[in-house]
Amino acid sequence: MERGTTGSSDLKPAAAIPAMLEAGEGVTLHPVTLGDAAELYAAIERNRSRLQPWLPWATPGYGPEEARAFIALCERENADGRALALVIRKHGALCGSVAFHRIDLRNQSTSLGYWLDGEHEGSGIMTRACRAVVTEGFRSYNLHRIEIRCGTGNERSAAIPRRLGFTEEGILREAEWVRDRWVDLRVFGMLRRDWESK
Ligand SMILES: CC(C)(COP(=O)(O)OP(=O)(O)OC[C@H]1O[C@@H](n2cnc3c(N)ncnc32)[C@H](O)[C@@H]1OP(=O)(O)O)[C@@H](O)C(=O)NCCC(=O)NCCS
Repeated sequence: MERGTTGSSDLKPAAAIPAMLEAGEGVTLHPVTLGDAAELYAAIERNRSRLQPWLPWATPGYGPEEARAFIALCERENADGRALALVIRKHGALCGSVAFHRIDLRNQSTSLGYWLDGEHEGSGIMTRACRAVVTEGFRSYNLHRIEIRCGTGNERSAAIPRRLGFTEEGILREAEWVRDRWVDLRVFGMLRRDWESK
């Protein structure tokens, strides 16, 4: 099986992070910066009870300082090409986040995570945002494989990879500790050749 497409550059991170990605209908994606901290934290605060069942970091104790520290880490990892953490804006207003959490350069693979402000649910923003990020990942980050892992029971989340044509590959039993319980994760995968032939 052929490995990658760029020979010796396989282990190099992407050359440059995108300044912005367009996802259509007024939705744009921007690498997160500390300038987003107040707006991002306000959105997390508004949505804490929705995020808590699925996102391990969204604990009652998650405060503005934790948010700033996380953004600073994302800025470093984005700059290194080892992650791609983006805020989602609709007509300029911050409405969520989507990210390649950590890029495995050796295996040219990563996992995509996301959350949306509840007021913006149900209009296709996240599906469009994920489509744009997956395209960027295969085109500019030299990725071979992108995963989306969703807690079993999180049907809104699983609907996104299904809509985008990912393959459902199986369930990782009790793979994530969220708040007070082990969560089984449903794994969806997309390979570059399948994305590009769609
Ligand atoms: C998971 C989450 C991002 C899904 O949000 P969402 O709004 O359902 O997803 P989308 O933005 O892609 O919108 C899809 C919905 O818009 C509708 N829609 C309208 N226009 C659409 C379009 N052009 N394209 C796609 N969907 C469209 C779809 O029918 C669907 O609604 P339905 O479920 O009522 O049928 C959101 O529920 C969330 O943030 N949950 C909490 C955090 C979380 O679970 N994160 C994931 C952890 S794995």
